[in-house]
Amino acid sequence: MNDDRITQVKQANDIADVVGGYLSLRPAGPTFKGLCPFHEDKHPSFDVDPRRQRYRCWSCGKVGDVISFVMEMDKISFREALEILARRAGITLQEDPEAEAKANERSHLLKVSQWAHDQYRGALEDRNLGEQAWFYLEKRGLEDETIRLFSVGYAPANGTWLLERARRAGISLDILDKLGILGRSARDGSWYDRFRDRVMFPIRNTRSQTVGFGGRVLPGTLGEEKGPKYYNSPDSAIFFKSEELFGLDLAKNDASRSGQLVVMEGYTDVMMAHQFGIRQAVATMGTALNSRHIRTLKRFVPKVTLLYDSDAGGKGGVQRALEIFAASDIDLRVATLPEGLDPCDLLVSKGQGALEKILASAEDAIDHALKVEFANAEQMTVQQKQQGVDRVLGILARVPALEDDSGTLKLDLILNRMQRRLGLSLPTLKNRLQMLRQTQVALEGRRHSERIGGGTNTDGPEVDQEGGSLMASGPLSRARTLGRPEERELLQLLLAGPEWVPMVDGSIHPEEIAQPDLRKIFEACLEIHRSGRPARADLVRQILDDLGLVGLVLTLQEIGEGTAPDQREAWLRSLLERFAERRVRPLQQKLKQQLLSTNDHDEALEILRRLKVSKSTASPASGGDPV
Ligand code: CTP
Ligand code: MN
Repeated sequence: MNDDRITQVKQANDIADVVGGYLSLRPAGPTFKGLCPFHEDKHPSFDVDPRRQRYRCWSCGKVGDVISFVMEMDKISFREALEILARRAGITLQEDPEAEAKANERSHLLKVSQWAHDQYRGALEDRNLGEQAWFYLEKRGLEDETIRLFSVGYAPANGTWLLERARRAGISLDILDKLGILGRSARDGSWYDRFRDRVMFPIRNTRSQTVGFGGRVLPGTLGEEKGPKYYNSPDSAIFFKSEELFGLDLAKNDASRSGQLVVMEGYTDVMMAHQFGIRQAVATMGTALNSRHIRTLKRFVPKVTLLYDSDAGGKGGVQRALEIFAASDIDLRVATLPEGLDPCDLLVSKGQGALEKILASAEDAIDHALKVEFANAEQMTVQQKQQGVDRVLGILARVPALEDDSGTLKLDLILNRMQRRLGLSLPTLKNRLQMLRQTQVALEGRRHSERIGGGTNTDGPEVDQEGGSLMASGPLSRARTLGRPEERELLQLLLAGPEWVPMVDGSIHPEEIAQPDLRKIFEACLEIHRSGRPARADLVRQILDDLGLVGLVLTLQEIGEGTAPDQREAWLRSLLERFAERRVRPLQQKLKQQLLSTNDHDEALEILRRLKVSKSTASPASGGDPV
């Protein structure tokens, strides 16, 4: 998307008009005021400024423009928001044939997927055809209403049921193949249904479009002996197993209101939760929770409770989820079910109160890790304890150092608890944690430079070493206090004046930006510049496609614009100098220390000489070598 288009769309959609379509605004001088839609607002603290085409909440700190507003309200991507606003203003976006082809393919896949869904649902509606499926669903305790709400279906057994219907309806078999619904025999090229004699749980994206299926084999059938219990749709252009969350489309509104979601393991669990009026439940698709799920979840809620079965399969998931959550600014709790019961069974046998009690007793993720790790501390050898300590501290080492006291207090509390549980001294634990943190920083740095060097993107946690959570403090104060002054000023300057990016490319290396969010923004600037375009703020935020960072980008830009254009060159020069100084500072410190500790006069002179040299050669970093 070129950035003239973005500008055009923004110009065609007045922010006060658009926001006014979502909430009621009243004029207040040159601006408009309303109740902030992003937090529980009692007095109107949401300001919409048509002159600057920005909104700002004085209470919760949310800042943005018309695009980020639509993204946030509708929980959609930058691209989708842009499309909605373009359509609203009668602008055609797809001038790029490749993008158009892609969009066409997507809409084709969505249509065919919906068609298949309708067929499966029809099969279940047919009580004769779907008799066994009903039997299973009823046995699990699911009611008609719930089954309809989730739009469950049934794939008949004969192996060509859907194929024949597709042929009759003139549906593209190739597309059904792409969706993993039909398969083709390698031997004679004949087509067949991939889902046979299975209860079909449709997986819908947040816009309630059917993007895939989870098919459960029917108990007591031939398939149960031969095939897997669940057959899930493969990834396709519309379905990414490791991003999608089952039930999110139904949960999202309640979740936004209550601020939390419960992540369960299975389709039936989520459905039963709904049946019992617990509407903030979602499930992963037979995969462990990963950082992309987190990104999705974070769009909706600040707080997540993991509710996992107590069996062995669940434990690995909890461990992995812990790592990820510990590194993200989401409030994670873990609740464990009694042995042998999944949430679905528990609700049926013990009722809603029992599940709510378990959810209410969910413990902080780290606390939970401690419990799992040192369940039988008395019987553990010293070495086993040591390893346990390292595993837990390793997770803590990845937790961003929270800005406020509560972070330190929480950490102290956990260390205290470990101390008591294991009889280790507090300083020992703190030292060990410090060491692990340093290794962690080094490790992250390396992984990071591998990424820049074109290495594969790891699926690991994103670690925030310095900055706090966006939720704790709005972009406004963050843009003024985040990271070291020279780092944030650099971004203020570049976002206000993208023409300076070429001057910086090659002089300052991303590795030199210690604050992760600022570094991400800086990398986006470089990426755009290197692809031959000016790194304008609108393109930067598009590349980032991260709502959490949009407010920061816009605010940094705004602050940078406060410095007159004719003064920016001098500003840049002073910034380049400050970075250069930073580079030699460690060497200088070392030399100074040597100077103080030496008794040898000649050596002192030599050190003085080197100190001088280091000062005069404080030049910009060369090429891509991380400093
Ligand atoms: N799952 C899967 N593949 C399997 C088994 C399970 O993808 N072979 C995933 C599914 O997403 C399923 C979830 O793990 O919803 C939970 O599994 P399980 O509890 O075994 O499924 P149920 O639907 O509860 O099965 P049952 O009726 O036997 O209790
Ligand atoms: Mn289950």
